[in-house]
Amino acid sequence: MLAGRCAATALQPFARQTPRQLYRPALTTQLRTYATPSPTPEKEKVAHFKGKKGSDGKFRVTLIEGDGIGPEISQSVKDIFTAASVPISWESVDVTPRIIDGKSSIPQETIDSVKRNYVALKGPLATPIGKGHVSLNLTLRRTFNLFANVRPCKSIQGYKTPYDNVDTVLIRENTEGEYSGIEHVVVDGVVQSIKLITREASERVLRFAFQYAQDVGRPKVRAVHKATIMKMSDGLFLSIAREVSKDFPNVEFDAELLDNACLKIVSDPTPYNDKVLVMPNLYGDILSDMCAGLIGGLGLTPSGNIGDECSIFEAVHGSAPDIAGKGLANPTALLLSSIMMLQHMNLYEHADKIQAAIFKTLAEGKTITGDLGGKAKTHEYAQAVIENMK
Ligand SMILES: NC(=O)c1ccc[n+]([C@@H]2O[C@H](COP(=O)([O-])OP(=O)(O)OC[C@H]3O[C@@H](n4cnc5c(N)ncnc54)[C@H](O)[C@@H]3O)[C@@H](O)[C@H]2O)c1
Repeated sequence: MLAGRCAATALQPFARQTPRQLYRPALTTQLRTYATPSPTPEKEKVAHFKGKKGSDGKFRVTLIEGDGIGPEISQSVKDIFTAASVPISWESVDVTPRIIDGKSSIPQETIDSVKRNYVALKGPLATPIGKGHVSLNLTLRRTFNLFANVRPCKSIQGYKTPYDNVDTVLIRENTEGEYSGIEHVVVDGVVQSIKLITREASERVLRFAFQYAQDVGRPKVRAVHKATIMKMSDGLFLSIAREVSKDFPNVEFDAELLDNACLKIVSDPTPYNDKVLVMPNLYGDILSDMCAGLIGGLGLTPSGNIGDECSIFEAVHGSAPDIAGKGLANPTALLLSSIMMLQHMNLYEHADKIQAAIFKTLAEGKTITGDLGGKAKTHEYAQAVIENMK
């Protein structure tokens, strides 16, 4: 949820500069880069982007505008990308679920579009309640086998929260573990829920974590686990982590128990600033929200759902039905997700240019939306970002 000024802190993962110091004049604007071009050769990468430019010199990207504020914030991204001459063209698709044979599924045209383009940007989706639909977000992850969820969280310099220097990067296994959906009743009053851990899914996410660490210049990968209790399942994840680490001699590897990691991060997050944390599904779900909480909340936090074939980038917030259609939405989270997407597509120059303008706009603090304490409408904020790119 967006919590006024606090939400601004969630922008940190991509802050390359010093955003505005609230209630005081903005500090200097040091531009920094979140991700640098990867040292890992493209062909050796797990989940490398396979898209190619078309005859018009542009990559085609699937756009799922989503529900509620989705169309408004998507429009801001489109306007800013046009102004920045980003070499992509959008293919807008609808994901309104259809019930086929009693099962909810996303339209085949949408699946075909994402498969064809290898990459999508997604606005928030509201899952209809009580109509037999499963979560669309979960459906998308399963449909495209998006095995890693990447969630960076970084404090905004000059913005006072309980912690000034949070800079965590967390990678969550996105397809199995406790979220495998294998549950059954053993006898009346006794249920079982299976936590599934496979070598294949573990190795894939771990290899991606090491590559990601190299890509963003982090020297360490840490596996977070509970192998002391779940000796077989987490034990397998941990032993595969050790195996995979041997292929990355330049990246330091260690492991930490989940409860210990939680205690230490909330006590002092700074020792985690040089690490990529990687972990099974449920731990990642909880720990990534905890890290977002340390910097002010989920409101402006971007994320990437990475698969071997396709990847989908999305804001972490929901469809905000309470402000939909009023021009009040803050498009920054979707914009920052789109910057993660451009980096994934190796369009670093465009990513840096837009990112710098976003943080300049926030640092100035003149044209910001209501959730951040400003008065600007969604399109006015987008226009200010465009002005700051000139
Ligand atoms: N990834 C997703 O697609 C996703 C994630 C979470 C929730 N949802 C769905 O969204 C719907 C609403 O969920 P919710 O109300 O619990 O959470 P929400 O994130 O939509 O809204 C929480 C609060 O934050 C505000 N807010 C959220 N995004 C904002 C933005 N960009 N700018 C300004 N204010 C913003 C809202 O106005 C609201 O007050 C539900 O149907 C839920 O299932 C989807």
